Amino acid sequence: MQTVELITRKRDGGTFSTEEIRWLIAGYTQGTIPDYQMAALLMAIYLRGMDARETSDLTLAMVNSGEQLRVNTQVSPVVDKHSTGGVGDKVTLAVAPLVAACGVAVGKMTGRGLGHTGGTVDKLESVTGFHVELSRADFMRILQEHQIVLAGQSSDLAPADGKLYALRDVTGTIESIPLIASSIMSKKMAVGASHLLLDVKFGSGAFMKNREQARQLALAMVEIGRAANLHTVAAITSMEQPLGYAIGNAIELREAIDILHGRGPADVSELCYHEAAELLVMTGKAADLETADQLVTAAIQSGAAVKKLAEVIAAQGGDARQIENPDLLPTAPIRVMVPAPQSGYIAAINAEGIGLASMSLGAGRFKKGDPVDHRTGLLLKAKIGDYVQAGAPLIEIHARNPEEAQNIQSALLACYQWSERPVQVLPLICDIIRPQK
Ligand code: URA
Repeated sequence: MQTVELITRKRDGGTFSTEEIRWLIAGYTQGTIPDYQMAALLMAIYLRGMDARETSDLTLAMVNSGEQLRVNTQVSPVVDKHSTGGVGDKVTLAVAPLVAACGVAVGKMTGRGLGHTGGTVDKLESVTGFHVELSRADFMRILQEHQIVLAGQSSDLAPADGKLYALRDVTGTIESIPLIASSIMSKKMAVGASHLLLDVKFGSGAFMKNREQARQLALAMVEIGRAANLHTVAAITSMEQPLGYAIGNAIELREAIDILHGRGPADVSELCYHEAAELLVMTGKAADLETADQLVTAAIQSGAAVKKLAEVIAAQGGDARQIENPDLLPTAPIRVMVPAPQSGYIAAINAEGIGLASMSLGAGRFKKGDPVDHRTGLLLKAKIGDYVQAGAPLIEIHARNPEEAQNIQSALLACYQWSERPVQVLPLICDIIRPQK
């Protein structure tokens, strides 16, 4: 096989066979296909796309490029969830313990934040001593003993994806549905849960800027799951404004603990309870969403859900007292309240802008490997649709020093649009995509 023939074929709108895709991925992983040829190939895929069969083949080839954990051979059912990322997205922190408290195991590898979106690993590392770098044996042991494990993404799984993603990042080929779908699904399939729930976000704070793009990505991933016998469901959810009120690390973990106590903000709580219920139905733990909702409510009211979070924190070396008493979590030394510059209804809050402001406080990273400050972030005091009086609290800044708090104030206010008339709030969950039977 000649790489150049495959590049020109895709450039001209052709398709690849299963064998050709395996050959390309094996060659690139082993270094026999150079970056410049793979870059050209990625651009051809970006421009011409891939059909469902090619996308599934690409995903499987990436799964086979490294080790596989096959968690469902040891614990079954075992669920995984993935969010395409957003601002204030603490959903995993609440859904994982909720589902585990309802008796379904959760084995999850999760990423660090980059750019304006946060990462679950960084939020968890707000807890003193908590560690996410687990050996394969520890991952399995914690999963078996506690029905829940929340680890960092291992570079031994789907290594072709790591290499391809780095190349896509510098060649303008990130925003391709088959490439994103195969990248996400290869990492999930290499872990090997039996059921996967995807939260595909769209809006100013998300990767996919509009609902139709999110739907296409969701359909592609559900189809990859179906073809690989991995029961996959995707929720399409809005990221037109940050989720909940808290944006940062420890501050988001605090909000997740509130959600597990049943006293979190309405929007993000509803999303967490729905995702948990969906997973209980997918795995057959509940016959329908109504029964699942009852299980979820019982886990919250009995305290089992928050206890499960404390349990996994302790199992991974963290100080569980910080979950039992969130006042023990790290807090920023400076708090500055930004008042509303005018009276009116909030018509829009630019999630990306809010995420970038939180990053400038140290809560996120500008480049891979940057340290994050777990103490800093933002606490919104009002959301879209709320009426706010001029001078009333709008956003609380949690900063390391007064200068950093001062520097972001005008950028923060520029994220808001105001209306004199009441504003309609669109639903957070727009659609659920389930596999075709
Ligand atoms: N997240 C991934 O893991 N891969 C992509 O290609 C995009 C987002």
